[in-house]
Amino acid sequence: MCGIVGYVGQRDSSEVLVGGLTRLEYRGYDSAGVAVIAEDGTLATAKKAGKLSALTAVLDAAPLPRSGTGIGHTRWATHGGPTDVNAHPHLGDNGRLALIHNGIIENFHALKTELIEEGYAFLSETDTEVAAILIGKAYRETGSLTAAFRQVVSRLEGAFTLLAVHADEPDVVVGARRNSPLVIGLGEGENFLGSDVAAFVAYTRRALAVGQDQIVTITPSSVEITDFEGNPVENAEFDVQWDASAAEKGGWSSFMAKEINEEPEAVLNTTLGRVHEGVVDIDELAGLDELFARIDRIVVVASGTAAYAGQVGKYAVERWARVPVEVQLSHEFRYSDPIITPETLVVSISQSGETMDTLLAVKYAAEHGAKTLSICNTQGATIPRESDAVVYTHAGPEVAVASTKAFVAQITALYLFGLHLARVRGTLDADAIAAQTEELLAVPAKIRQILETETAEVARLAHWMADSRAILFLGRHVGYPIALEGALKLKELAYIHAEGFAAGELKHGPIALIEPGQPVFVVVPSPRGSETMHSKVVSNIQEIRARGARVIAIAETGDVAVLPFADEVIRIPLAAPFFEPLLAVIPLQVFAMELSSAKGLDVDQPRNLAKSVTVE
Ligand code: F6R
Repeated sequence: MCGIVGYVGQRDSSEVLVGGLTRLEYRGYDSAGVAVIAEDGTLATAKKAGKLSALTAVLDAAPLPRSGTGIGHTRWATHGGPTDVNAHPHLGDNGRLALIHNGIIENFHALKTELIEEGYAFLSETDTEVAAILIGKAYRETGSLTAAFRQVVSRLEGAFTLLAVHADEPDVVVGARRNSPLVIGLGEGENFLGSDVAAFVAYTRRALAVGQDQIVTITPSSVEITDFEGNPVENAEFDVQWDASAAEKGGWSSFMAKEINEEPEAVLNTTLGRVHEGVVDIDELAGLDELFARIDRIVVVASGTAAYAGQVGKYAVERWARVPVEVQLSHEFRYSDPIITPETLVVSISQSGETMDTLLAVKYAAEHGAKTLSICNTQGATIPRESDAVVYTHAGPEVAVASTKAFVAQITALYLFGLHLARVRGTLDADAIAAQTEELLAVPAKIRQILETETAEVARLAHWMADSRAILFLGRHVGYPIALEGALKLKELAYIHAEGFAAGELKHGPIALIEPGQPVFVVVPSPRGSETMHSKVVSNIQEIRARGARVIAIAETGDVAVLPFADEVIRIPLAAPFFEPLLAVIPLQVFAMELSSAKGLDVDQPRNLAKSVTVE
């Protein structure tokens, strides 16, 4: 939530900042702003409520002076509405210091009262302005931006990434972080700061993560990192694997359209280097055999779409590795007094690697003696760094706020993990592992086939159903989390009331919702996987059809049993049962995207949301 970028170097910083904000806008789009130190040593700012385009219109009309130093921000509002005044940067030291912030300063009220008593006046309703004034005040005492940060940041409670510039230090940007992300981009004669690497990947692929409770000072030729007390620290450099074009729309109508079309590669790339002649062996998990052999329980912690990936993965990991898997919403986990022993493995799933709920669940698990494994899509993010081990998904940057390619990559990573675990625990023999692996490796081509053959039909359905007031989704077994995911996509993208149900649950209450014309998507399992489950779902279809529902079945090619009862059938290629979710979800994602655009909504940036949820 909130995107942050900082630059020092020879380029025109306004250009670098706006470019970085374009790639970070998915983190929040309530307002945007920049501050630069002009070549004559004055501080110039521009900020505007609304999407980044509103700020760029302001900058086009009245460009900021040329400058090699600046900071930029895109906001997801927490304290104070999305207005021009509440937009960042906020000023301190009589307008000589500009500060931007991601996170929530929980004790801002007490600090603000203290400052008001001292005679300071506030322009905005934000918690950020308190930090700007405090750091400005500390600057007057210390004469150094870094020293001013050191004096103030320990007093701030909650979550924050702060970046500031001061007119008296024209070649310096200072940043600090606690419970919120900050990454450094290392250039030649220039350096960058960003909420994530997308902020600067167009200029450099050499990066350094800033650790918890650290302060960083960048100039064109130096990067200095200390802890909050000022002790120097050294962080490991890493190479960013994404290139700049991966975070560009590249001719697609939306990032979401692009990312759905990248799903075959997201699955494939996540398997690369992890399968050797049919044997799954994940290098990152080397050395953990003893742990994997003795664990007696796995708890998956995740939120939203990532939690649904966990629910899909649970069935396969339990079946293959014979270990109980529980999936907990990360924000519920630590409040439920969970039972954790040294034999518990806590697996977090997160695209961004920054979701505060999930991060806190991981920390809680570690503090209570569990080993932690992170499944994550973002290098250098906080959750993998806080975990004992990490399996990266290789979906590439996901920019659209609604998660699509990361979801299939997360399921892929969980399946690889399940097969790795089954090998180590001896619960599947080599042939069984090879057979499942072969199914997994066949998924990318099948997704491609769905995208080629079904997309037009799904788009037609979406346009036809654009006026629906509610849409329901049903599934059983691994199809159940897919029903939940289909409903979530529709809610967030098309603002339509949508609910996912376990098909068997319908008769216990929700069937009362069915009235003539009610659209219901049904994820139909293959009869080849389980004849019984298939016929139960077909019966569920008949039950709702008898009450007037319009049924859209997602069924495998050749499944004729659904034909008499379904109004529409979307076909997916044949796959073994555990691999059907990776296929069935695709038309549901396309449906939500098409319905959103049929309603004229912003597919990539749905209202009220942000991609990376760094508040609890
Ligand atoms: C929905 C969506 C969210 C995220 C959730 C977790 O389309 O994107 O539900 O899945 O906020 O985010 P990560 O995976 O970054 O932890």
